Amino acid sequence: MTSARVLLLVSGGIAAYKACFLARLLLQAGFSVKVAMTEAASKFVTPLTFQALTGNPVATDLWGEGQSEALDHIEYARWADLAIVAPATANTMAKAAHGIADDLVSTLLLAFPGPLLMAPAMNDNMWKHTATQANLETLHQRGVATVGPGEGWLACGTNSQGRMSEPEDILAAALEMAGSLEGLRPDQHPWSETRTENQGFWAGKRVLITAGPTHEIIDPVRYVANRSSGAMGFALASSAVKAGAKVHLVLGPTHLIAPRGLEHLENVESAKEMADAVAAGLAQGADWLFMSAAVADFSPAEPAAEKIKKEALGDNWALALKPNSDILAEVVPVHRRPELKVVGFALETEDVLARAKAKRQAKQMDYIVANNPTSEGAGFGMVNHQATLLGEKGVIWQSESIPKSELASGILKNLAETEKDIHHDSRG
Ligand code: CTP
Repeated sequence: MTSARVLLLVSGGIAAYKACFLARLLLQAGFSVKVAMTEAASKFVTPLTFQALTGNPVATDLWGEGQSEALDHIEYARWADLAIVAPATANTMAKAAHGIADDLVSTLLLAFPGPLLMAPAMNDNMWKHTATQANLETLHQRGVATVGPGEGWLACGTNSQGRMSEPEDILAAALEMAGSLEGLRPDQHPWSETRTENQGFWAGKRVLITAGPTHEIIDPVRYVANRSSGAMGFALASSAVKAGAKVHLVLGPTHLIAPRGLEHLENVESAKEMADAVAAGLAQGADWLFMSAAVADFSPAEPAAEKIKKEALGDNWALALKPNSDILAEVVPVHRRPELKVVGFALETEDVLARAKAKRQAKQMDYIVANNPTSEGAGFGMVNHQATLLGEKGVIWQSESIPKSELASGILKNLAETEKDIHHDSRG
């Protein structure tokens, strides 16, 4: 159950009626909901419907009657933890992408600095149009999450892509986003003006973070992957943003919704693409590299251009694999500036600390975070996690089993303190 506050922004499309169901689902899931609509949206569904569902007044325009205070929109934007635009029309997406604020919904979108989820809905040609796709790209680059559109029956009489996602799917995405805010007071939200105690150390630092698994193509429908969810890298990115760092996140394929406030978000698929992205990120002058991605060690030796048929594989398919280059061991040294600090991660199921120490030295990392996915209180898909941070002199911090968000801020805090000590020692 969540208790986050959602601003539901309804723009003018036939799918506006589905936003009523969404409002109800959000309330049932524990969200507090306030609704603002465009004038066009209120032609499809009346504000009264949303008012009756949410128990809150519904804002419909910037200056009209019913707006007791002219600056209501700023209040709405301040109040919310999360904003959802459903349906998001091509017009509203375009305005959001370009910072145009000429009605209530677009003004709120510009005034709200927190996490934003959009559920696009429009005619299939409008969706496919280069302009819409370019706007979508811009919004994604800024960390805006989208859900859908799906395929299905459109109001314009065709059966194709453009249909707004079902309210249940939008709710699931909203819950995932709210989950990453849990345990944080509003003043600790990543976009908040109030920063954490690490602000001093991390403020302005250029931090390159890799997260998630990589997918190594076997053929157009199959790939080799691993069980990494990317949650640790996300938590680190979110904590680093909160601490004032300029974060460049290189992200393997994951279903998680990227934190907002990133300087740059780069989606990659394969280990090779991740290696190239890290090389480019280092060349741009990163101060810190966190290699939290679970990079695949091997990839298919000969990826097939066409789908391999089952019959061609026989009863005993042996897939030939070739080693991928090791990013830390082979790519980083080529682009490493002396000031760069490198933090690696070690996933070990036995002899964890000894192996992590050896790995730190072998891959020339300054620090390593070691964990055992099979131990109690840690592991794949678990909410809580346990890990040990090691540096040149050995163990720096051993965490309890805690949420990944706390683990990430603990890692950053301990790194900041250790670095300050090193700096102090070397001067004194
Ligand atoms: N890593 C990397 N490039 C790879 C594989 C791993 O940069 N091709 C990085 C990971 O991001 C992690 C660290 O190396 O920070 C350790 O990864 P891990 O998989 O634990 O160790 P490996 O060196 O791959 O060895 P092994 O799997 O045998 O333990």
